[in-house]
Formats: sequence, structure tokens, C-alpha cells
Amino acid sequence: MSSWRQNLEAVDGVLCKWNVDLTNLSTFRMSSHGSLLEISSEAALAKSLQILNQYQVPYRVLGWGANQVLAHEEKDVLIKLNFPFDQQTLNVVREDYELPASVGLNVLSAHALKFGLKGWEVLTGIPASLGGALFMNAGTSHGEIRQIVKSVRVMEKTGHIRNEQITADHFSYRKNHFVRGGEVIVGAVLFHHGIDALIPDKIRHYLELRRQSQPLATKNCGCVFKNASPTRQAGRLIDVTGLKELIVGALRVSPKHANFMENLGGADAENFQQLVKVINRQMELHWGVGFELEVKALYP
Ligand code: EPU
Repeated sequence: MSSWRQNLEAVDGVLCKWNVDLTNLSTFRMSSHGSLLEISSEAALAKSLQILNQYQVPYRVLGWGANQVLAHEEKDVLIKLNFPFDQQTLNVVREDYELPASVGLNVLSAHALKFGLKGWEVLTGIPASLGGALFMNAGTSHGEIRQIVKSVRVMEKTGHIRNEQITADHFSYRKNHFVRGGEVIVGAVLFHHGIDALIPDKIRHYLELRRQSQPLATKNCGCVFKNASPTRQAGRLIDVTGLKELIVGALRVSPKHANFMENLGGADAENFQQLVKVINRQMELHWGVGFELEVKALYP
């Protein structure tokens, strides 16, 4: 066994899984195989990053895997954070919330629903960990997560933590501008814009809208493409071009929402790559321009 693997196995708080089936690690359930590190503390992450970088082993972090297309044979070592989080933090309304990157947005949304936290409705229904959502500035039609972030803690490749005080320049549509290659978001401080008794209804209404318009019960990766602009939404243009239900391998364009793809069982990254190509060729033909991917896909 190579020495970087032995070094990682010796780190307290790291569970190493070499050459395992990764299919269940993404909501899309793309057929995938590779290596995974489950890391349960910042100290363990710091040591792991030092080892991975020292041996130049490629790696990346996986949140809930809701917005990633895993390759059939993953070349990166995947890192899953599982930092401790005291749920009692959410028993009362606070001014600021210091949170680990691995906490689920569903947990934060439940808190917003219970207490009516203004601003936090932007998190509704996004299937992600906080770290994953921050990395891509996740959002809904209510807004983006950037609107409720005060600061983000980023671990550098050396294991050193950098605190980013968030300004308007830190994020744009589905992008952050402060995490450099090999760095990992480990936590953040969120704030809210006061208490508003209308927020719980707003959240419930939004969840119902999503249930009606998106194929939530299927194996999918959320929206596949970024909207080109507010009037050039990928879902609408793919739909009016007649591409709903188009199938490549075990992957089809959702009949419910055309910016979603559904894994019918056993699909892999190659099916995804082909379906994206077919759709974008049609988009260029009909509308003069294709769409950029919103989902992160590293093809084999
Ligand atoms: N539309 C169609 N046919 C379809 C799908 C949509 O005509 O098959 C039309 C809709 O009627 C609407 C327009 O296209 O007029 C836009 O659709 P929708 O309201 O569903 O919003 P969206 O722009 O497709 C965005 C986010 C979603 C988020 C929803 C609701 C992006 C790329 N997508 O979708 O986020 O859930 O708003 O807030 O910004 C995600 O990020 O993974 C995601 C799904």
C-alpha cells in the first residue's frame, strides 16, 4: 500500500474507504467507484490536507452530493465532512449562528420555519450541506445563500484556517470567489434579517411549489444547467424545444421539469455527458447558444 494511504489511516478522526462503491454518495446515484475519506474533526481534516497535498493526491469535498456527477471511476479521493454539531444551538433564536460546513440546510430550514427567520427562506428545499451550498452560492427564486452569510472559515492546503468576512464581491450567481484550489470550507457564521411571522407560510408555499414543479422523488442532481439570464431559463427553453423525456442510456430529461435529468437506474457519467451534448446541440441550433452546467461534472 502506498505511504500516503498509510499516513491517512493513522490520522485520528479519519475513516478511510479505499476502492468502494460510491453510487449511494450522490443524490443522482450515478454508478461510481473510488476512494472516500470520512473526516470528523477540523484537526483531522488539517492533517489529511497536508498529507494529500504532500503526495500530490487529487481530492475534492462532497457535501450531500446533490450537485455533482460522480465519474464511473473517480480519480479524486472524495472527502466527506462529518463535524460535530450540537442541535441545541438551534433551540433558540440567535443573532449569529456559528455552524460547521457539514450541517444540512434542511436542519437550518426547520429552524427558520419554527421561528420565522427572515432571509433564511432562501435555503428552502435545497438538498445540500451548508459547505456545499456556500461553495456554489446555492439559491432559489427567493434569493441566494450569500444574503445571510456573515463570514466563512476556509481551510487552506496547509491546514491553516482563513476567515473570510463576506462582502458583495465574495459571491456571484452559483459561484464563490474566495475558495482557491485544494481549499475546503469548514464552517460559516450566518445571520438573519429579523423575525417575520409570514416566513413559515412563505416556506410552506415554496415547498409546495417545488413539489408541483420538480421531480423531487427521482434520482436527480437538481438543475443541470445554469439559466443563461432571467428570461432565458434552461428549463423553459429545453421544454419548448420538445426535449422532455429524451433518453440516453438510463438517463432521461424529466417530464416534470426539463432542467432536471432522472436516473432511471444504472446511469453513469458517460450517459450524462452524452445527454448534455445532445441538449446543447439542440439549444445552439434553436436558440443560438448552449447552456453552461450548474452541476459539477468531471468526466472520466
Ligand atoms: N419551465 C418550463 N418547462 C419546464 C420547466 C420550467 O416551461 O419543464 C418554465 C417555468 O414555467 C418558468 C421558467 O421555466 O416560467 C423557470 O422555471 P422554474 O420556475 O422552475 O425555475 P428555474 O429557473 O428552472 C430555479 C433554480 C432552481 C430552483 C427554482 C425555484 C436555477 C438554474 N434553478 O429554477 O434551483 O429550485 O428556481 O426556486 O437557477 C438548483 O439549483 O439545482 C435548482 C433546481
